Amino acid sequence: MVVIPVKLPSQSYEVVIAAGGRYQVGSYLEKLSNIASDVPLLIVSNPKIWQLYGQDIQLALKKAGFKSAHCVLPAGERYKTLKTLQKIYDAALAHRLERRSTLIALGGGVIGDMTGFAAATWLRGINVVQIPTSLLAMVDASIGGKTGVNHPQGKNLIGAFHQPRLVLIDPDVLKTLPRREFRAAIAEVIKYGVIWDPQLFSQLEALPRLDDHRYISPEQLLEILERSCQAKVDVVTKDEREAGLRAILNYGHTLGHALESIGNYRLFNHGEAVALGMIGAGAIATALGYWSEAEEAAQLQLIQKAKLPTSISAKLDHSDIMTLLSSDKKVQGGQIRFVLPKGIGQAEITDQVPQDIIAQALAKLCSVVAT
Ligand code: GLY
Repeated sequence: MVVIPVKLPSQSYEVVIAAGGRYQVGSYLEKLSNIASDVPLLIVSNPKIWQLYGQDIQLALKKAGFKSAHCVLPAGERYKTLKTLQKIYDAALAHRLERRSTLIALGGGVIGDMTGFAAATWLRGINVVQIPTSLLAMVDASIGGKTGVNHPQGKNLIGAFHQPRLVLIDPDVLKTLPRREFRAAIAEVIKYGVIWDPQLFSQLEALPRLDDHRYISPEQLLEILERSCQAKVDVVTKDEREAGLRAILNYGHTLGHALESIGNYRLFNHGEAVALGMIGAGAIATALGYWSEAEEAAQLQLIQKAKLPTSISAKLDHSDIMTLLSSDKKVQGGQIRFVLPKGIGQAEITDQVPQDIIAQALAKLCSVVAT
């Protein structure tokens, strides 16, 4: 078991990584003084995850003397809306949740973000506990308190910062995670290696395969989870509200968001688009002398080892991509902001990338061929 403390001015909590931890959720909550046991907890999940793990959580809570109710929402990014959020509020009302009550998010990033936002807003703020079930939610969304829903015009436009009381990660549930989703999350793990943790980068280099959890031992997986969560915690602790440093977590996301959007969120999932975005940002970093060609190649090798996409179709229109880049949330004062690596384990945010360098990176992205 690994415990990572998160010490923030707004709220301190722990990220607990424990195989089989879902069977112990009641005892973890019992230890927290702020989780009331005389009011029911509301578990929010999606149909597949509820079917797989709902009963484990319910029983574990019951064993520790907690009563629980549940609310099952439709799965998928397209349901991350105000309309779906209403269902959580309806359940909160039906089960008479009060100020001392707790919501438990049991699912991937969509469930975590929506449940967190419901907790941030219900009665002006109640407790939330995150039990992420996808690798992506484990290493990213469940930690750091970003919550929200999408607006038809853009992702995560409606949201709030609301830190959880506990993040409980049970790596055993990754056995049921589809392989494409596992690979996509590895893109974010590679990201932490590039922007923050050179040791994580070397660990990933040493692994023979990164495309399927079955080829990664439980010990190696635990280390990957620990180092990735620690990277996220380090950054969030230094800059909870994204006044500066936290934006480095958006490495690969400037171009990634444009590619996700141009492919209508179907051509590339989030992690795949981030992998492509990292290749693009990596090429820009080389062109500007931020890092070496060898470092760019090492990043590409990891992305290839995870069997993530490494090139975009030449058919995708570069001018459409440039237009989308200019309308991204990360544009400031009309300048496109990129996070660029400065060697393995360090990154810098800049809005000083000449247009022709961006165009060259896009052209390179069309020609990179996976081995
Ligand atoms: N996922 C980026 C962040 O939490 O800041």
